[in-house]
Amino acid sequence: MDFFAELGARVAAHWSALDHDAAAFADVAAEALAERPPCEHVDWLEILRQFQRLDRLPAQRPFDPDWGHPSLAVFTAPRFYIEALFWAEGTTAIHQHAFSGAFHLLEGSSLQTAYRFDEQLRAGAGFRLGQLHALSTELLGRGATRAIRAGGQLIHSVFHLDRPSVSLVVRTYREEAALPQLTFRRPHLAFDPFDETCDHRRLGQSLELVRESRPLDHLAMLSELFPRLELAATHRVLEHCQRVFGAGERFAKMLAKARERHGESADRLAAVLIADRREQELLALRRTIADPGQRFFLALQLMVDDPARREALVAERLPAINAREQLAAWGAALSLPAAH
Ligand SMILES: [Fe+2]
Repeated sequence: MDFFAELGARVAAHWSALDHDAAAFADVAAEALAERPPCEHVDWLEILRQFQRLDRLPAQRPFDPDWGHPSLAVFTAPRFYIEALFWAEGTTAIHQHAFSGAFHLLEGSSLQTAYRFDEQLRAGAGFRLGQLHALSTELLGRGATRAIRAGGQLIHSVFHLDRPSVSLVVRTYREEAALPQLTFRRPHLAFDPFDETCDHRRLGQSLELVRESRPLDHLAMLSELFPRLELAATHRVLEHCQRVFGAGERFAKMLAKARERHGESADRLAAVLIADRREQELLALRRTIADPGQRFFLALQLMVDDPARREALVAERLPAINAREQLAAWGAALSLPAAH
């Protein structure tokens, strides 16, 4: 696509003049996107058409099912590339980046929340407990551009409000110095989703199998297991317990066993699971709702804790209405308190 070739050449020339300084790339990318805003020159449907014609876009990056639906490379160079990410549903994933660059909203709108993580305990490089603080939430409209700085300099989640929302990302490939690329769970957890030494999904699967086929052995197995589990595995097994027992007495018993070995870290994991469950319930509800206002309300519930900030964001997006009354009305329609 001619526009992306020109944008790519602009980025390449500017960055080359800075001797490919990794720390400078986010600003180079953001400036290029601001000078030549893709939303003024590119129709997102045309990107899909070009891809479907098979020979009009560059070779694609390895497929990642969680990264855009679809994600399409539109320009590639040896040191960086440009991709279009298409989103139909919002995601609350809080993450940092092992790359630098900038993103531009080609279509739709998003809520971006920035966070800080104060690390307090490390259980292996890829599993950490601490306190995640939401710093600010902003509403991004079509044409907005923001820098992406590698590592802990930017921890954020971008919740896409419209269907589709399309973002364009100018980015480096991977910066070793910014690894691991951590994912965060409110309010206490950071983990490396690519670290296989703390990936205990098979442990969860094995417990699920026993629960289904030998339910009498399941409880005894859990009781024997907890004293032997390191922290990341404890998280996975508590997650399993929450799924099968809910929040009742059986879960409390298992949490007490986890606490015997890990102390208050076990309670922090339980708090993460409670927050996860609330998010999953709100996301599931949102998938069943077509009304744009109610969908926005649920996005605010997911992304913004401060009621005053929620009101301000409603006033920004819908300036003609009384934000407080509208939040109460949406909450009533969905049987959720406005400050849920
Ligand atoms: Fe991101």
